[in-house]
Amino acid sequence: MNKIISVAIIGCGGRGLGAFGRPMQTRFHDKFHVCALCDISTARLENAGKELGVEEGARFTDENAFFAQKRAELLVIATQDRDHARHILKGLSLGYDILVEKPLSSSREECLSLLEAQKQSGRGVFVCHELRYAPAFRKADEILLSGELGRLISIAAVEKPWYGHFVHSYVRGSWRRSEDSSPVILAKSSHDLDLLQYYARARCETISSTGALSWFKAENAPEGAADRCTDCRYVDSCPYSAKRLYVDRMKNRPDYVFSTIICRPDKPTPERVMQAIRTGPYGRCVYRCDNDVCDNQQCLMRFENGVTATFEMNAFTGNGGREMTFHCSLGELILSEVDDVMCIKKFGREEHEKFSLSSLVNAPGGHGGGDDALILSLHGALTGKEKSATSLENSVESHLMGIAAEESRLRGGEMMYVHGRANPTES
Ligand SMILES: NC(=O)c1ccc[n+]([C@@H]2O[C@H](COP(=O)([O-])OP(=O)(O)OC[C@H]3O[C@@H](n4cnc5c(N)ncnc54)[C@H](O)[C@@H]3O)[C@@H](O)[C@H]2O)c1
Repeated sequence: MNKIISVAIIGCGGRGLGAFGRPMQTRFHDKFHVCALCDISTARLENAGKELGVEEGARFTDENAFFAQKRAELLVIATQDRDHARHILKGLSLGYDILVEKPLSSSREECLSLLEAQKQSGRGVFVCHELRYAPAFRKADEILLSGELGRLISIAAVEKPWYGHFVHSYVRGSWRRSEDSSPVILAKSSHDLDLLQYYARARCETISSTGALSWFKAENAPEGAADRCTDCRYVDSCPYSAKRLYVDRMKNRPDYVFSTIICRPDKPTPERVMQAIRTGPYGRCVYRCDNDVCDNQQCLMRFENGVTATFEMNAFTGNGGREMTFHCSLGELILSEVDDVMCIKKFGREEHEKFSLSSLVNAPGGHGGGDDALILSLHGALTGKEKSATSLENSVESHLMGIAAEESRLRGGEMMYVHGRANPTES
């Protein structure tokens, strides 16, 4: 018989409710049952509680009350970046299995202490690296493992978040300040670093990184720009104008995701969106926010088995998506979410094999089907039916890469040994 796993969720925002609670209570109701919720926002808690049918006595605004006892088998942690490590430790001490959003932490010591706590507890901790489960990225892995392209030599990867997404989250939004959330290499790109070590099938030995907040700062504001888009003479011409990004974009899409986010928990209407940008953080001029995270960052990596990789995250991109080129001894594999294509080029052959990435996705859910696939796989792992595609150890590994990359960037691009230097006298 199919086991139904009981679930408690802390953090009922975009991810806690949208990516996990809702699918668990609808599409996967035969596998999961959400029975307890915690969120510091009364409005969000009530909204999630009503939608998921969680009784009032099992809804908490205070995390201490929520963690006073174990309330389910699985704990989903979808709070903000700086809360994850604390919530993992509290959850493990109660004996929960845990699904936690990335990033785990921006501190090397804290990441290692989580690994230690997990080992001691014997519970499962699964980090939401959902791209490992997304069909397109799995297909790439299958092709690499088949050996048809020979040996993997190097990977060139680019993450293109789309300028509108970038300014929403990393200039005006929750991830704009490194100190309050995480450096962008962890907040935005921990998936990419995770995929690189997954494909390389080795630990990262060295990493160096450059990057900066190059554009979204006061000195680049157009002459006479106002502090708020709604008061600004460039409201209809600036590409970063909140009116253009939130109000205009929802004209043909009433449930446009970023407009929905700025009105939560209310449903977005043009009037509500207008009000949100007139008074709230998402209507601020992108050149006059208190942001400090990089808007472009580059990394150079060498893995312990000799595979090398480059990675770039760049805000200045017209379409969102990841692009990866795998350079192998007998051919090249290109995966482009931006152009919705995977292309296999075997050396010495005229014909290239090409197919669309969307043709591989046969399930709803975000991240190219990765979110739903992760939930399904989590059920399999918790019921002992399948081995998880990832582990806390893997996730800590990719976090150590991100932490070392940020250290390198702050030291002007100095090469960092992710696990220390085996022989410090070697150059
Ligand atoms: N895996 C992915 O691809 C992916 C995508 C987006 C976001 N994320 C990560 O998921 C996490 C959540 O992101 P989101 O977009 O859902 O953010 P969000 O702001 O929509 O949701 C966070 C929720 O946590 C609540 N909260 C904050 N502190 C709390 C506390 N101490 N106790 C209880 N509730 C608390 C907030 O009120 C909010 O409702 C972030 O860490 C983010 O980096 C991951």
